[in-house]
Amino acid sequence: MNIQSLLSKKIYKTLSMIVDKNLSSERHKIYIKRSKKSDFGDYQINGIINITKKIDISFYQLAKKIVDILNKENIFEKVEISNSGFINIFLNTEWLSAQLFNTLSSKRLDISLVKPQNIIVDYSSPNIAKEMHVGHMRSTIIGDAIVRLLEFLGHNVIRVNHIGDWGTQFGMLIAYLEEKQYSNQEICITNLESFYREAKKKYDQHSDFTKRAREYVVKLQHGDKYCRHIWKKLVDITMKQNQIIYNKLNVTLSYNDIMGESLYQDMLPDIISDLKKKGLAIQDKNAIIVLLEEFKNKNNQPMGVVIQKKDGAYLYTTTDIACAKYRCDKLKADRILYYIDSRQHQHLMQAWTIARKAGYIPDSVSLEHHMFGMVLGKDGKPLKTRSGETIKLNSLLDEAIKRAHNVISNKITTSITDRSEIEHLARVIGIGSVKYADLSKCRTTDYVFDWDQMLKFEGNTAPYIQYAYTRIMSIFNKTGYSYKNFLNHIEEIKEEIKLESNIERQLAICLLQYEETITNVADLGMPHILCTYLYRLSVLFSSFYEECSIIEAKSKSLFYSRLQIALLTARILEHGLNLLGIQVVDRM
Ligand code: ARG
Repeated sequence: MNIQSLLSKKIYKTLSMIVDKNLSSERHKIYIKRSKKSDFGDYQINGIINITKKIDISFYQLAKKIVDILNKENIFEKVEISNSGFINIFLNTEWLSAQLFNTLSSKRLDISLVKPQNIIVDYSSPNIAKEMHVGHMRSTIIGDAIVRLLEFLGHNVIRVNHIGDWGTQFGMLIAYLEEKQYSNQEICITNLESFYREAKKKYDQHSDFTKRAREYVVKLQHGDKYCRHIWKKLVDITMKQNQIIYNKLNVTLSYNDIMGESLYQDMLPDIISDLKKKGLAIQDKNAIIVLLEEFKNKNNQPMGVVIQKKDGAYLYTTTDIACAKYRCDKLKADRILYYIDSRQHQHLMQAWTIARKAGYIPDSVSLEHHMFGMVLGKDGKPLKTRSGETIKLNSLLDEAIKRAHNVISNKITTSITDRSEIEHLARVIGIGSVKYADLSKCRTTDYVFDWDQMLKFEGNTAPYIQYAYTRIMSIFNKTGYSYKNFLNHIEEIKEEIKLESNIERQLAICLLQYEETITNVADLGMPHILCTYLYRLSVLFSSFYEECSIIEAKSKSLFYSRLQIALLTARILEHGLNLLGIQVVDRM
């Protein structure tokens, strides 16, 4: 059930009955908003005033006509014109309760499948021969939540891990590894980082090493067997380690999703000559550049974007031009979402402007940079270890599990004594907290990483919502019904869902806003909207539970009605958290 879209359709249909003009171009000016206060109804129609300008009618006349038509529909309790120029909509309570029942008895929570699009999601994308660090966390976590959500809605999603697996650093590493003759066991991810540092030092200091490293780059680029073999080994070692992190993080990426920078290398020479032929690329001193009017350099002149250096090397931009083309031509993308931090915005815009000008990207394909801010320490600076080093993602996750373990031991007083259950709990809470802390912040801004805050059982946190879920589980335990098979009983019980008190009604509306919430997240690529929703749902449930006794309800029918509301709440909390890549447990 998508109330917002249902209302939009109804309003538009009503307008077309009143106005004999085609208003399709004006449609976006009218929008349906949730009301902030229940005095003003459940939803508001905004923007009617914009239409009146087009068709020469007063706001009041038009609004009155709309309201008269809508008031005949049984889904509305009443529809009225507000003093401030909106139309307030009060939904009919019986209609709400019928919708709740539909949602509850549907496997997909009454959420429709969309017309599928091919959506490419470029996320995580770490660099080879380095351990993943906190800088790759946001892309990995947010990208994966969006992937899950889009797939649930029915889209054909292609995950792409655009790893940094190409470039001069591989020449250095190959030359270094060859010189040192390390054994297979010695070449592991932790050693690779120090090999890389040492190789770089040599590269900067010893000209014969520099020469050899450069030769290896060329050899690698021309498919030399030995170089390819070592290169492949470096990629495998790094990605094997990253896979451990993905699994720990409950992220759906696998080895099959890797499409790194190297994939596009064969396309680059043709791209350069094509851009030259089209008059976009020109020779400038020794490099090949594209002049872009859209971007200005320091002297306020069109910016020259380098796509090939004088030594023939291609750049990050060149690869991203090719990669966007590949995603359109080969992967038949309708929409391409890039989860990359905001510092790379200009880079992407330049690559895409060139790709669009060259005609590589059809107008129908939408390229979207879903950027995000940085993870900061409490000092407001980028999060680092105490000694000032970057924080490895793996150790951050281990710390999350350890801290969750402490919290559980201090806080949770249930009879959970089984060690493996406690460990599982620590993992679900620890990882859930880190992910939720990230997902719940509007992604476009920086945020402060705060262990104590994210592990709290109050406020907008994973533990709070996970705990709300377990509370409902324990209600079920007391009723003697199992949550999982209560659904089957509903058909036999045949008890209506009654929305008598204000809190029941509010909770009901919130439950029915799940679909419009995730549709919104899918359009904007902003998971915090779903987090805010799940938090609101948990808070409302908590008030409902305080005010409306379930176990000791006054009548059997009230008991079943409320139990159904509780069941639907639990299903949506679990489903929503799962879309975010966060697990639930039955008790804590
Ligand atoms: N490997 C890059 C980095 O670590 C991110 C790649 C993002 N994707 C892209 N198509 N440029 O910064």
